[in-house]
Amino acid sequence: MRVLVTGGAGYIGSHAVVELLDGGYEVVVLDNLETGHMKLVDSRAKFYKADLRDRESLRGVFQKEKIDVVMNFAAYIKVGESVTAPNKYYENNTYGILNIIEVMREFNVKNIVFSSTAAVYGDVVADSCVAESFVTQPINPYGMSKFMAERIIMDSSFSYGMNYVIFRYFNVAGAHEKYRIGQMGEGMTSLIPVVLEVAKGEREKVEVFGDTYKTKDGTGVRDFIHVTDLARAHVLAMNKLSKEESGLFNLGNGTGFSVLEILEASKRVIGKEIPFVISEKRPGDPASVVACSWKAEQELGWKPKYTNLDDIIRTAWEWYKNI
Ligand SMILES: NC(=O)c1ccc[n+]([C@@H]2O[C@H](COP(=O)([O-])OP(=O)(O)OC[C@H]3O[C@@H](n4cnc5c(N)ncnc54)[C@H](O)[C@@H]3O)[C@@H](O)[C@H]2O)c1
Repeated sequence: MRVLVTGGAGYIGSHAVVELLDGGYEVVVLDNLETGHMKLVDSRAKFYKADLRDRESLRGVFQKEKIDVVMNFAAYIKVGESVTAPNKYYENNTYGILNIIEVMREFNVKNIVFSSTAAVYGDVVADSCVAESFVTQPINPYGMSKFMAERIIMDSSFSYGMNYVIFRYFNVAGAHEKYRIGQMGEGMTSLIPVVLEVAKGEREKVEVFGDTYKTKDGTGVRDFIHVTDLARAHVLAMNKLSKEESGLFNLGNGTGFSVLEILEASKRVIGKEIPFVISEKRPGDPASVVACSWKAEQELGWKPKYTNLDDIIRTAWEWYKNI
């Protein structure tokens, strides 16, 4: 089976590439290298520099390679930027998917795995974990661009007989322990990379947005899933597709960690104080977002291996301190 991994030079895509290769799949990576890095692409994979928005260059890749499954990681991912430049997000994350689906149809490729996000749930108000059946109300263009892409994929499945696995990731963190790959890039905005930047002296302090939420210590609570666990789910998705089945799954740890817990764990792992300052809450930041991932457990046989927060931070630090 040959898998086309779009965005395979990025953080999560590069981890999926190595899990697929180790699982015996042939891998073709397509990436425009806008935020991706050639050094993250495993040398066992074939590489094409191409853009999802350019249908002609997609056709070129499909003509050269007989593709069985497309895994789409390629996207813009910054929530804040999506608010100031929404159409950039709709063009890449939504129109880009439409493009690849159309080329898949031309070449009779029936299977797609898609990286979606917990941002499709929007302003979550939940005492318990968030299940796939939870109401979807994205509150920013990033979440909406992904939600629209989900609909395009589901409609294409219904009308053109395609099979899909859609994954809604919660907060992704950590780095591979065996291969030298991990998260890198300018202006990383998620909490753990920001903490690591402070630990490395590249940033002065961590800004903690709000400490008066109704949570265990007043700071926001989030679900952190290790990138290798996430990547393994993509390999399991291949079994589902091979049975011509489709499904939509949350991928998270099922455990919520507060911002202060992240800071404490980072101090333990890295062995130094992480300076922080408490700032105002950000509008639209929910108090607590934790995934229910039972569906992926039951239907895919997936279970996260990294359940200890210190281990997640340790792998991220091992990678980040050396780049
Ligand atoms: N990082 C997270 O915590 C997180 C959470 C939820 C969902 N996701 C989703 O996971 C996917 C991967 O995210 P990531 O963190 O690895 O981001 P990333 O920026 O590291 O990777 C994205 C990759 O896609 C490439 N790319 C972007 N637009 C392209 C285009 N038009 N044509 C070809 N290549 C293009 C980039 O060069 C990069 O290599 C995204 O779809 C994102 O929405 C990420």
